[in-house]
Amino acid sequence: KKTLFSGMQATGTLTLGNYLGALKNWVALEEEYQCFYCVVDLHSITVRQDPAELRKRARALLTLYIAAGLNPEKNCIYYQSHVSGHAELSWILNCFTYMGELNRMTQFKDKSAKHADNINAGLYTYPVLMAADILLFQSDVVPVGSDQKQHLEITRDIAERFNGIYGDVFTIPEPYIGKQGARIMSLQDPEKKMSKSDENANASIYLMDDTDTIIRKFKRAVTDSDNEIHYSEDKPGIRNLIDIYAATTGKSISDIEKEFANTGYGDFKLAVGEAVADLLKPIQDRFEELQKDKAYIDGIIKANAEKANYYSLKTLRKVQKKVGFPERI
Ligand code: TYM
Repeated sequence: KKTLFSGMQATGTLTLGNYLGALKNWVALEEEYQCFYCVVDLHSITVRQDPAELRKRARALLTLYIAAGLNPEKNCIYYQSHVSGHAELSWILNCFTYMGELNRMTQFKDKSAKHADNINAGLYTYPVLMAADILLFQSDVVPVGSDQKQHLEITRDIAERFNGIYGDVFTIPEPYIGKQGARIMSLQDPEKKMSKSDENANASIYLMDDTDTIIRKFKRAVTDSDNEIHYSEDKPGIRNLIDIYAATTGKSISDIEKEFANTGYGDFKLAVGEAVADLLKPIQDRFEELQKDKAYIDGIIKANAEKANYYSLKTLRKVQKKVGFPERI
């Protein structure tokens, strides 16, 4: 089997964007690959976190992976901080990454504008840690939303550079970006990505929002002034709602346009809200159930950390040898 790797940050509560852009595809691909699904808590501390809150969110995220349908017995669902190989490989790869490359990362530019009081070195080398995550498991495919594309490109560049010097050490990973839902936009400003960290709670659908909240947020979604359900560049609000509906129901854009040809925005918004609520409800119910079963989740955490450690060490030892570190006696 080929290997799949992906991860999410345990910062804030997951949004519908995280689900439709990534998590949904993870579930769809899990049978085909040997999968590693990571809660990337090392990445989270690139911005200041409250320790108790981070711990709580990391556990909730890990539980949510399972609630969304990932099988923790077949796949490796684990915390990045439990596998020291991530940090060790990241250091080595830092020495094979140019500052010029990191200077071009748009996410770093965005985040340093937002956290101007804390532009730390971790924020700067964030993409190198991400490359280490992926390369540590010799991953073939990395399912992500389109905002992570640039990080996948630098990962490939670093891997190719390393292989060019030392021979075929790393598998060169391919991004997997779904046709639908790869970039879900804010409901309040459809020119902006839907984001966990948006201050306006109406801008994002959170995975734990209840049905009424979801429907209310869609009703209030910003759209243009005409009233036609038509997918077009100059109608970013309605385009986003069509994208969400398509990714949620699996229907094609042209079928959706036909289905709602004789209705207005109000009815369409309600249909989108209901479809999204129906999609999320079973996940929320499973999440509540799983959260109660502390022993089960603890067991998953322990077993999968061991498994991830085992696989990570295979790559790490090889890399350490290649760069010239002394043998372990
Ligand atoms: P993060 O935590 O910001 O997002 C997790 C996943 O959700 C996708 N996503 C979206 N997709 C569609 N529309 C949106 N509005 C939207 N917002 C987020 C992201 O593309 C991502 O797939 N750096 C990564 C975490 C990471 C990682 C990795 C991912 C660390 N190491 C290794 C893959 C492989 C991040 O911050 O994702």
